[in-house]
Amino acid sequence: MRVCALFGGPRPGGNTDLLLQSALAGARDAGAGVEIITLYRLSIAPCQDCGACARRGECVYRDDMAQVYQSLDRADALVLASPIYFSSVSAQAKAAIDRCQAYWAAANANPPVEQKRPGLFIATAGRPDTRGDLFQPALAVVKAFFLSLNARLVGQVFAADTDRSPVAARPELLHTAREAGRRLVQVPENP
Ligand SMILES: Cc1cc2nc3c(=O)[nH]c(=O)nc-3n(C[C@H](O)[C@H](O)[C@H](O)COP(=O)(O)O)c2cc1C
Repeated sequence: MRVCALFGGPRPGGNTDLLLQSALAGARDAGAGVEIITLYRLSIAPCQDCGACARRGECVYRDDMAQVYQSLDRADALVLASPIYFSSVSAQAKAAIDRCQAYWAAANANPPVEQKRPGLFIATAGRPDTRGDLFQPALAVVKAFFLSLNARLVGQVFAADTDRSPVAARPELLHTAREAGRRLVQVPENP
């Protein structure tokens, strides 16, 4: 099983990265191969709604998104990890997500027949989740993203309050992420 993991944070070793690394360690424990795409190192232009993908089924804009498409295409399971920025995913993550409009256009023309791939969403936020809805806007974005990639959300790992309580000091969260990564690659193919 091959996992494509999109790292949407800009800080290696930061809260989001630590959770992602734990999740991927869990996936590797369960025998999966892992490919990490570090989005902040790539040059990915925002979608310009040129309409080409609606006609051709693929994006015609040439930049580093090519390697993201390649990794997504061969993945059996997906992970998106992002810090929460202004209630949503990071700009790095959102640029890549919007460029996946090409998949949405292709799926619209030819609905996929193969089984949906499992997907895991990891997010961290600086503020405490006092109302229980801190991650909901980003979750809606990621559900739509996964749907366009013929994936389904099977797990989520959310860490709030990282400003006061960094993930590095929360071994229970790192354990939760590791288990989520393990489960991601063990979910039944055809639920
Ligand atoms: C531009 C920006 C916007 C942010 N917006 C939010 C927000 O809306 N809600 C929140 O709880 N934290 C917000 N934060 C805090 C980050 O989500 C938090 O520090 C996160 O854990 C950072 O992840 P990292 O350590 O992987 O970089 C924001 C941080 C930045 C830099």
